[in-house]
Amino acid sequence: MIPERVTLVDVGPRDGLQNEKQPVSTAHKVALVQRLQAAGLREIEVTSFVSPKWVPQMGDAVSVMAAIERPPGVRHSVLVPNMKGLEAALPTRPDEVVVFASATEAFSQRNINCSIAESLARFEPVVAAAHAAGLKVRGAISCTVGCPYQGAVTPDEVERVVVGMKAIGVDHCGIADTIGVGTPRAVQAVLERALKHYPLHEVSGHFHDTYGQALANILASLELGLHTFDASIAGLGGCPYAKGATGNVATEDVVFMLHGMGIDTGIDLDALVEAGGFISEVLGREPVSRAGRALLTK
Ligand code: HMG
Ligand code: MG
Repeated sequence: MIPERVTLVDVGPRDGLQNEKQPVSTAHKVALVQRLQAAGLREIEVTSFVSPKWVPQMGDAVSVMAAIERPPGVRHSVLVPNMKGLEAALPTRPDEVVVFASATEAFSQRNINCSIAESLARFEPVVAAAHAAGLKVRGAISCTVGCPYQGAVTPDEVERVVVGMKAIGVDHCGIADTIGVGTPRAVQAVLERALKHYPLHEVSGHFHDTYGQALANILASLELGLHTFDASIAGLGGCPYAKGATGNVATEDVVFMLHGMGIDTGIDLDALVEAGGFISEVLGREPVSRAGRALLTK
């Protein structure tokens, strides 16, 4: 049964801006979060508490979290790779933290400088401390369909990490197609493995659109009943450690498709398009979102 309502998590301020070569001011990041909230987004991945040597664009995580408005009903999440990240994040009062692992050893090493097993061991105290602080913990698993270093990835490899995440108490399982090579049946095969261990409402899809497959993959996920997806305003995004990984699926495009299917998102598409126009102007380029471009020039 296709769901009647879908929750979108806009990861643009984090996944989108982490990959920008040009500096983006804290004020612009805060203004983007503000616009997303105004457009009706109720879940926003704001920033990450990672090493600024590794990802300089997220070096102002504390300032961004301090400056954003925190209206009731909006949940703000942040990425944390280890206890140091969690300790820095906690005083900024995120609603949720995200630990991130990889389905492949090669990407795990490149992205967080440790093996998959080491990453799970690192996350275990993070999950416990986050829970003790009353926070929900989402887990993101990268390279679930393909890896820029290994190539093809099997559902078995992904399921091993899903099981590892579950064992350390991670509440939610995000399945990420980091380099966008997934096609609908392959994505369904991976989601089915996640759904063996997590309930429908605790599994989400995070699809980069490098090969133009993301909307098809969302539709394929909806067919399985999935109703939570990450998307990125204006199609921003990529991962500094996954060469060729372009942006996430654009939130505007996802909303256009879902509303066209009669699925409720709670999002005002016009305000969303305006938010996409705003950040694209800041970055000095056109929004990647096709719906955004069409509606902006209408
Ligand atoms: P490391 O070098 O192995 O860490 O990096 P370390 O523990 O040896 O520490 C080295 C230095 O980093 C020390 O500083 C630490 O204090 C500092 P120094 O003594 O040299 O001055 N450090 C930190 N500083 C700030 N915050 C921290 C932190 N931890 C250590 N939390 C580490 C390991 C995980 C830190 C590093 O590899 C890292 O920061 N990686 C981040 C990678 C990243 O952010 N990637 C992008 C996000 S994931 C993604 O985009 C995928 C996703 O969208 C899903 C998908 O599409 O696939 C989620
Ligand atoms: Mg990503």
